[in-house]
Amino acid sequence: MTDMPPGSRIVLRNTLREHESPFDLAKDARDGLTAVPRTLPSKYFYDARGSHLFEMITRLPEYYLTRAETEILQRESGRFVETSRPRVLVEFGSGAARKTRILLDAMRERGLLEGYGPVDVSVDASRRAAQALIRDYPDMVVEGVIGDFERPRNLPFSGRPRLIAFLGSTIGNLETVQAQAFLEAVRAEMTGADAFLIGFDLVKEATVLERAYNDAAGVTARFNLNVLRVLNRELGASFDLEAFRHRAEWNAGRSRVEMHLESLREQRILIPAIGLDVTVREGETIRTELSHKYTRESAEMLLGSSGLALESWCTDEARRFALALARAPR
Ligand code: SAH
Ligand code: AVI
Repeated sequence: MTDMPPGSRIVLRNTLREHESPFDLAKDARDGLTAVPRTLPSKYFYDARGSHLFEMITRLPEYYLTRAETEILQRESGRFVETSRPRVLVEFGSGAARKTRILLDAMRERGLLEGYGPVDVSVDASRRAAQALIRDYPDMVVEGVIGDFERPRNLPFSGRPRLIAFLGSTIGNLETVQAQAFLEAVRAEMTGADAFLIGFDLVKEATVLERAYNDAAGVTARFNLNVLRVLNRELGASFDLEAFRHRAEWNAGRSRVEMHLESLREQRILIPAIGLDVTVREGETIRTELSHKYTRESAEMLLGSSGLALESWCTDEARRFALALARAPR
């Protein structure tokens, strides 16, 4: 189904309610909360409140990722666009699409920009971003998808040369096997005219990483706890948000920051809608997010194992973050 009237310069195809959609909060909550260790998928952070909290995170002094990636985009966007000559920009996990504008500007300056195709699970963020972009880019159409990017079928604007972007190091939020499957699925959709730009957050000192996910103002804690609010609202769950504490730790062995909600006391969680009744012990955690950090070697290996060829690798001055431009060899 589409979200906007025909004739509008915005079409947002909403796949979340389609029968075949894998996006099933009830099933994911039941599976995750009965698993060992308990988990919840991080895609459920992003209701309107969660998307807003994430935007606040991007402005925190401790959260260097957005600033580092912006620095690379400001320096290299012209070159990315010159080498791939895209007519449209397709973006996974587009959110508020603020950094996106640097790429759109580089395309517009070269007379190339025709369309933008965001693919994001957040209804609120997708609508807001699309409205703001058509206002500021009057010659561009928006043809996006509100849905799960892990099913990247029928991507927008097939047949036109596309720059496909996956910014923010959101790739790092996927388990390695999931990231590989996702990249393979995107590669299968790519033609020789498409280029794929992927943001990777890089391995660095544990203190810097842990600070980025444990900010002094407590915004990341609110973002983390928001997933319980989503379950309370959507499934009538009984989570007491005061009875959980945010925790984020660097796991050097697995090269990832792991975000958890730790139960402050033994408590019973009831979700009648899905017949769930579990007792969580004091100190037990629900793992809510993985945020993998890469080296050039590990990123190149991931791309290679998905059949993508690395064309260029650019970092910010301080080497905190990298943007990889990749192609699908024919
Ligand atoms: N690209 C932006 C936003 C990153 S936040 C930036 O770099 O700042 C991650 C975004 O991915 C959010 O907008 C969230 O709604 C979206 N997202 C997370 N998991 C998703 C999934 N499985 N499918 C589609 N979108 C997803
Ligand atoms: C969207 N994603 C790349 C962010 C990250 O850094 O893993 C989400 C986030 N989690 C806590 N802070 C930000």
